[in-house]
Amino acid sequence: MGQIKTIGVLTSGGDAPGMNAAIRAVTRAAIANNLRVMAIYRGYEGLINDEVREFHTEDVSGIICRGGTILKTARSQEFMTEKGRAKAHKVMKKHSIDALVVIGGNGSLTGARLFAQEYDVPCIGLPGTIDNDLWGTDLTIGYDTTLNTIMECVDKIRDTANSHERIFFVEVMGRDAGFLAQNSAIAAGAEAAIIPEDSTGADQLEQFIGRGIRKSKSSSIVIVSESPKCGAMYYAERVRKEYPEYDVRVSILGHLQRGGSPSAGDRILASRMGLGAIQALNDGQRNVMIGIRNDEIVYVPFSNAVKSDKPLKKDLIDVMNTLSI
Ligand code: F6P
Repeated sequence: MGQIKTIGVLTSGGDAPGMNAAIRAVTRAAIANNLRVMAIYRGYEGLINDEVREFHTEDVSGIICRGGTILKTARSQEFMTEKGRAKAHKVMKKHSIDALVVIGGNGSLTGARLFAQEYDVPCIGLPGTIDNDLWGTDLTIGYDTTLNTIMECVDKIRDTANSHERIFFVEVMGRDAGFLAQNSAIAAGAEAAIIPEDSTGADQLEQFIGRGIRKSKSSSIVIVSESPKCGAMYYAERVRKEYPEYDVRVSILGHLQRGGSPSAGDRILASRMGLGAIQALNDGQRNVMIGIRNDEIVYVPFSNAVKSDKPLKKDLIDVMNTLSI
């Protein structure tokens, strides 16, 4: 691999607040380092279909405050096939793109890893996902904004829950990870969080009811991590059957959690990571995700970043349980 002169940048997978700040940072850091920037639209799908155009500094003006991604995004099935990746490589060669910066979550970085294994293309990942489920980084871009969005929604739900003396099951996103559920529950002063990381094997609903919360409070809020089988609806149904004395409601927050202007935390994180991606290329790094640990930028090999089951600190569960009495 010769000297890198041109980079490609794309966003892929679920959009996350702060992706635009990351696009801006990658673009401007690259230009500051005399690199040409090719913006790739619609993620890997756009790379395969040649939806590529050069970006200049003014193309990323005024976007740091905007949610979503100006580059659009997609979950490309075709890129998961060898044929799809071969097409994508051809398009890269056509535009003389020497290296790729991929902003996305687990699936997107898995795609980058496969691509880098097959072709001699340095790939750098930026963790762009609200789920915070990537290993090797304390935070992902979008997570902080989404936590704040959930907290604001739960604050509002609390008003009506209190007024009617109800139990509310509030379902939040996170895919297979409970970071959003656990930390939004702490931030909103919820009575419980039901998360996939609970490894005690105990029935989390019985534990919650068993703590006798309703005796001392006029309402309860339980944050539930999304799950195909055991989401908020499942628990609400169980309470209706097993504890009919309680008045229960469900609120599924859905995609509003992914929208909105990014928080200061996410804008700063995305800006630092975007610059980190270009520095990583300058350092000769390849096939790493930019992470942040103890407030320091770190390089995390793709193989580590995409491992499943990033651990959730058990003391968060203690904080929740102790303070929700
Ligand atoms: O990975 C981000 C995420 O928002 C998950 O929390 C959620 O499970 C999923 O994406 C939803 O995806 P879609 O927008 O395709 O429905």
